[in-house]
Amino acid sequence: MANYFITGTNRGLGLEFVSQLAKRGETVFATCRDLENASQLVDLSNDYKNVHLIEMDVVENSSMEQGLQRIQDEVIDVVINNAGIYGPRNVNFGGLNGDDWSNVFQTNVIAPLLLTQLIIEKVRNSSVKKLIFLTSKMGSIEDNQGGGAYIYRSSKSALNAAVKSVSIDLRSQGFIAAMLHPGWVRTDMGGPKGLIDTQTSVRGMVSLIDTLTAEQSGKFLNYDGQVIPW
Ligand SMILES: NC(=O)c1ccc[n+]([C@@H]2O[C@H](COP(=O)([O-])OP(=O)(O)OC[C@H]3O[C@@H](n4cnc5c(N)ncnc54)[C@H](OP(=O)(O)O)[C@@H]3O)[C@@H](O)[C@H]2O)c1
Repeated sequence: MANYFITGTNRGLGLEFVSQLAKRGETVFATCRDLENASQLVDLSNDYKNVHLIEMDVVENSSMEQGLQRIQDEVIDVVINNAGIYGPRNVNFGGLNGDDWSNVFQTNVIAPLLLTQLIIEKVRNSSVKKLIFLTSKMGSIEDNQGGGAYIYRSSKSALNAAVKSVSIDLRSQGFIAAMLHPGWVRTDMGGPKGLIDTQTSVRGMVSLIDTLTAEQSGKFLNYDGQVIPW
């Protein structure tokens, strides 16, 4: 059994990660920015004593620091940087707004890297040392046939660039860093037309995380383990 630390767990993929990992007996430190509005997550923590809730807004440094104080004496085996936002929809070239762009970068790129910096010493003593980042195929420059989605696409491309460096810089210390595309999933972000449900996506990602090797560190992977072109 291992210790997992996950961001953005009150709904969508984050909530499903907590559910699947809790049911198989893992210890889960599940974070979200507003526990008052996290009834499904609170229900899970009542049903499974191995789920520990921590309030954390990943765009606030002080919130991340305070949240991490709650796990001061813990070793973390797997960090799942899941929290993310899409930003405004249907913004075309000509209508781009710098503030919107900054907000999405803060959440999708800067926050996961800063959190990883803050938590890294808790992961160092683990024999597992897995750093997982939820990215998107929409961040693949090669795969972009449709154009548009400037803000979200560029945020996930930037995340990939940064995590690639993390994977190289921390490799000799035994860390494995991987970027996972969850599929097009029916969540608030993915919408009702998504191709798969959260159970299928998270089942795939959990099994991929379980078997992730040092050779897969620094790779951009689909939830079924296939490599996605940059
Ligand atoms: N669904 C898809 O098809 C799809 C495809 C590719 C990649 N992804 C990626 O997968 C991840 C999860 O997506 P999802 O579909 O589960 O999205 P979702 O249903 O919209 O959920 C997003 C989660 O992130 C949290 N969050 C956002 N900003 C936060 C902040 N500042 N601090 C803490 N938590 C924050 C949200 O919390 P609140 O409830 O407080 O807002 C929510 O729990 C994201 O990184 C997303 O980019 C999703």
